[in-house]
Amino acid sequence: MAASKFKIALVQLFVSANKSENLARASKLISQAAGGGANLVALPECFNSPYGTKYFPEYAEKIPGESTSMLAKAAKDNKVFLVGGSIPEEDGGKLYNTSTVFNPEGELIAKFRKVHLFDIDVPGKIRFQESETLSPGSGLVTFDTPYCKVGLAICYDIRFPELAQIYARRGCKLLLYPGAFNMTTGPAHWELLQRGRALDNQLYVGTISPARDEGASYVAWGHSTLVNPWGEVVAKAGHEEEIVYSDVDLSYVDEVRSSIPTSNQRRADIYNLQDMSKN
Ligand SMILES: *[C@@H]1O[C@H](CO)[C@@H](O)[C@H](O)[C@H]1NC(C)=O
Ligand SMILES: *[C@@H]1O[C@H](CO)[C@@H](O)[C@H](O)[C@H]1NC(C)=O
Repeated sequence: MAASKFKIALVQLFVSANKSENLARASKLISQAAGGGANLVALPECFNSPYGTKYFPEYAEKIPGESTSMLAKAAKDNKVFLVGGSIPEEDGGKLYNTSTVFNPEGELIAKFRKVHLFDIDVPGKIRFQESETLSPGSGLVTFDTPYCKVGLAICYDIRFPELAQIYARRGCKLLLYPGAFNMTTGPAHWELLQRGRALDNQLYVGTISPARDEGASYVAWGHSTLVNPWGEVVAKAGHEEEIVYSDVDLSYVDEVRSSIPTSNQRRADIYNLQDMSKN
């Protein structure tokens, strides 16, 4: 029988412009998280490179490559499920924002390419066009653990509730979003979006941000968080480098779902949500 509880560690890594230093720090913190009892360890979005489209071509790599080899080894050495945040991936001349997942044997068990690219252009204020450098992924990705099925998406994807709903219908009890909100969207929406996705779908939602670097061109909000199926924040980081731990209690998911049975009281005769992803 599957365990009804497991421990998750959200690693709010400090990401610098030095790739090998980022990989070494990540590897050290993964061991530390495993030493702290975590069964599943998750890293932030863009954990090997500064966040920003101008960096992606330089930091991009193939999968397998330097960063994912480190992840595979760290998962195996520490016997944990490891969600490798995201890295800029190069494949066939295109760049993707890609998250990889390794099992405790160090095998790649899932690969997710960010589905919704973030393009914004507010004249005189901010211009950020991921689609100029990145290509979007075309599928949704879940992976199985001995504890529960987990759904994976990246950052901006959290603003699209349909994706979380589809993951819930596929049986996920935990959704993970490596992400890097900024100093405006962070305080305004980061926690609200997580609590919304968690409550709507009655599951756990975890987000993993890089630590804040005031000197970086993109300043991340930090505050990696875990929200429970009741919509409550159960663990939350500050803005510096730290590891946040929490239990994920799967019997609590069932309890919330049976006390407010939204999932079996839908009216499929008046609305519907269709899963068109091929994976
Ligand atoms: C992935 O996409 C997000 C947009 O939400 C962006 O912030 C990040 O820099 C991208 N990361 C990589 C590794 O391409
Ligand atoms: C953060 O991103 C939002 C949305 O794109 C933008 O409106 C805002 O100006 C950005 N804030 C900072 C501090 O860069």
